[in-house]
Amino acid sequence: MKIAVIGTGYVGLVTGTCFAETGNTVTCVDIDINKVEKLKSGKITIYEPGLEQLFERNLKQQRLFFTTDLAEGIKDAQIIFLALPTPPGEDGSADLKYILKVADDLGPLLRSFSVIVDKSTVPVGTAERVRDRIAANAKVEFSVVSNPEFLREGVAVEDFMKPDRVVIGTTSEKAKKVMEQLYAPFVRQGNPIIFMDERSAELTKYAANSFLATKITFMNEIANLCELMGADVDAVRKGIGTDSRIGKRFLFPGIGYGGSCFPKDVQALAKSSKDAAYDFKILNAVMDVNASQKTKLIAAIKHYFKNSLEGKTVAVWGLAFKPHTDDIREAPALENIESLLSEGAIVKVSDPEAMENVKTIFGSKIQFCENPYEAAKDADALFIATEWPEFRTPDFEKLSTLLNNKAIFDGRNLYDLQQMRELGYTYYSIGREV
Ligand code: UGA
Repeated sequence: MKIAVIGTGYVGLVTGTCFAETGNTVTCVDIDINKVEKLKSGKITIYEPGLEQLFERNLKQQRLFFTTDLAEGIKDAQIIFLALPTPPGEDGSADLKYILKVADDLGPLLRSFSVIVDKSTVPVGTAERVRDRIAANAKVEFSVVSNPEFLREGVAVEDFMKPDRVVIGTTSEKAKKVMEQLYAPFVRQGNPIIFMDERSAELTKYAANSFLATKITFMNEIANLCELMGADVDAVRKGIGTDSRIGKRFLFPGIGYGGSCFPKDVQALAKSSKDAAYDFKILNAVMDVNASQKTKLIAAIKHYFKNSLEGKTVAVWGLAFKPHTDDIREAPALENIESLLSEGAIVKVSDPEAMENVKTIFGSKIQFCENPYEAAKDADALFIATEWPEFRTPDFEKLSTLLNNKAIFDGRNLYDLQQMRELGYTYYSIGREV
C-alpha cells in the first residue's frame, strides 16, 4: 500500500519505518526542513533500539521517503497517518493546533478515497473534529479513523511489530477493510485487531496510560506504607503480582513515573473528565502522589547529611526517565538534581544516552562524567535515578574506594538489601528497610 505519515517525531518515525518494513511504500512528511534533510541523508533523528537498522534498510530499498511538502507526501496515499504532537495546553488539556492545521491543509489536497488515521493521543471527539475540518474543503470521499499507539520507548519497534492488540476506531466498513489489510502482517500470531467506534478508541488510549500510571502509583503508596510498617515492598509485590488478575508487570515502585506520555495523558484525562462534569478523583490523587514521590529521596539524603547538603557532592546515576532511551521529559532525575543544587550540593552525573539532552538544561551547573565510576569519584553519596542495566551489578569494591561515604540512595531498588548490609553500605531504597 502507499502510506503517508505526517509528523516525523518519535511515533511517526517508528510507524513509518515499521510499515515500510512490511513492504508498503511510506512517505514521511515533516515541516522541520533540517530533520527531513538529515533523515533523507540516512541519519536517524531519535535513539530507539533496533530502529536504525530498519530505517537504513527501507531507505536503501526505496520504500521509505521523506519530504517537507504535504502535497507531494500524500500523493496517491491510500492511508494518511497523523502522528503530530499534542502538547499539554496551559489548562492541562491536549493542544490540537497541529492536528487541526494539517486537517485544514489536507482537505483540498485529497484526490481519491483516503483513510486518515489519528495516531496521536487525542481527546475524545477529535476524530469528529478532524473529519469536519477536512470535509470543509474536501471534494472526494474519505474516512477518519482513530488508531492509538501503545508503543513503549526503548522497545517501540518490538511493540509495533508484535503488538498485544491493535485498536481501531471506525464505523466505516470501507476504512475497516483497509486497516485490516494494513495490520494483517503484524497480528499473524493471533493477537487481535479490536474494532470499535472512534470515541471509544480515543478513550482506550487515555484509559490504558492512566490505568498503568495508577498501578505504579498504587505500588508507590504501598512502598511508602511498607517503610512505615516495617514490611518489604519486594515481597508484597511478588505476593500480589502472582495473582493473574493483578499481573506481575508495572508493579515496580520507584521515584515516580515520568516520560512524555503518562504525566501528559493522566493530566489530559483529568481535564477532559472535569470538562465532562465528572470529578475523576483517582487521577487527581495519582498526580499528587507522583509529584511528591519524585523527590522522596531528597529528605533521606538531607537526613543523612544532618540537614545540610551545602558543599556535599552527590553522584547521580541515570538521567533518562527510564532505561534504553535518551528521553528526559518529566524525568525524575531532573527534579532531584534541581533540589540537590538548590540545597547547595555539587552534582556529578552519568547516563549512557541522555547526557547531551541534560546539558541543554543544566549546562555547567553540574558535572557530566564519562562513566558511572567517574561520577562516583570523591562523591559524598550516590543517587540512582534510572535503572540502566549497567548500574545493576557495579563493582562495589571499586565503588567504595571512589565514594567518600558508602551511602547509596536508590530510587529504583536495584540492589539486594542483605548484600548492601554485608558490604557495609548505608542504603536507602523505596519501600524497603534502611
Ligand atoms: C507509555 C506506555 O507504556 C505505552 O504503552 C504508550 O504507548 C506510551 O506511554 C505513549 O503513550 O506513547 P513510555 O512512556 O515509553 O510508554 O514508558 P513506560 O515504559 O510505560 O514507563 C513509564 C514510566 O513508568 C517510566 O517513568 C517508568 O520508570 C515508570 N514505571 C514503569 C515505574 O515506575 N514502575 C513500573 O513498574 C513500570
